[in-house]
Amino acid sequence: MCLFGICAWLLTPKKQLKLRLGLVVFIASNMQKLPLYIMIHNTDCLKFLETTPDESFDVCITSPPYNLGVRYSDYKDTRGDYVEWMSEVWHEVCRVLKPDGHLFLNLGYSKENPFDTYKVAENVPWKLQNNIIWAKAVEVDGKVRGYTIPHQSKRYLQNGWEHLFHFTKNGDTPIDLEWSGVPYDENYGNAKRNEKRSGRNYRPTTNCWHITYKSKATKYITAEIAGLNKHPAIYPEEFVEKCLKVSGLKKGVIFDPFMGTGTTAVVAKQYGLDYVGCEIDKDYHKFSLDRLTKIL
Ligand SMILES: C[S@@+](CC[C@H](N)C(=O)[O-])C[C@H]1O[C@@H](n2cnc3c(N)ncnc32)[C@H](O)[C@@H]1O
Repeated sequence: MCLFGICAWLLTPKKQLKLRLGLVVFIASNMQKLPLYIMIHNTDCLKFLETTPDESFDVCITSPPYNLGVRYSDYKDTRGDYVEWMSEVWHEVCRVLKPDGHLFLNLGYSKENPFDTYKVAENVPWKLQNNIIWAKAVEVDGKVRGYTIPHQSKRYLQNGWEHLFHFTKNGDTPIDLEWSGVPYDENYGNAKRNEKRSGRNYRPTTNCWHITYKSKATKYITAEIAGLNKHPAIYPEEFVEKCLKVSGLKKGVIFDPFMGTGTTAVVAKQYGLDYVGCEIDKDYHKFSLDRLTKIL
């Protein structure tokens, strides 16, 4: 029995009750002092969204389940009502984003249902401002650089890209071209001339992002997750970073309704931003919290 237990045991039942009530009030009042906007909730995102006020968050960067039968721990990635469910989620997400907010929605490509991703995107109530391709595996001079899963198909090409849909309320929200751009290489002969001509010392980013999938890093990350099924679909930190830079958000809250291993929160924390998110699986949720405590 702990010291508190021994002291409580020595008191009369009435005093014990008073002590318990006092403890509850103490915990509750101190919880209020915790930063409100640093939280990953172990819950269904729609349940969480039901209680979230309008215009709470600045940017949403997220990757929902793709409905491709990916083997998650708890979640079954084969919903019959996938498109309807996604529509409900994005209506709620747009509601809780500020009117000048950004929604970056990463969706995989399915050979079996190739148009599902477009159906999901079509049902987002905001306007598609940028249609970005995330090229995960890059082919250079006949060699594949980056990660690909070995596959045996005789009819399909290996899948080397995913969608990244960038939505804003009216499709005309300013983005940060400089922060998300690439500085001119000093050794590049035309850099100075280009700088003079364009008045800027960076190349604006394009809508095709070459970010390799880090298989080793992903394995290392997933190894520490409890339970049988390690997380199968972690996106790279650079991917989240680039979305953040396009949005230009320097102060505010990033939201991710499908946190998985917490990558979105990790990047938010690295950039000194607040984050809120949900993850339905208790092992992934626990892992995301542990991962966050390791970041200074
Ligand atoms: C594609 S993964 C996200 C991975 C994440 N971006 C990362 O880097 O780790 C989708 C996640 O959504 C979770 N999920 C599925 N249904 C959910 C729901 N209704 N609410 C919250 N999370 C859910 C799954 O458990 C899974 O971890």
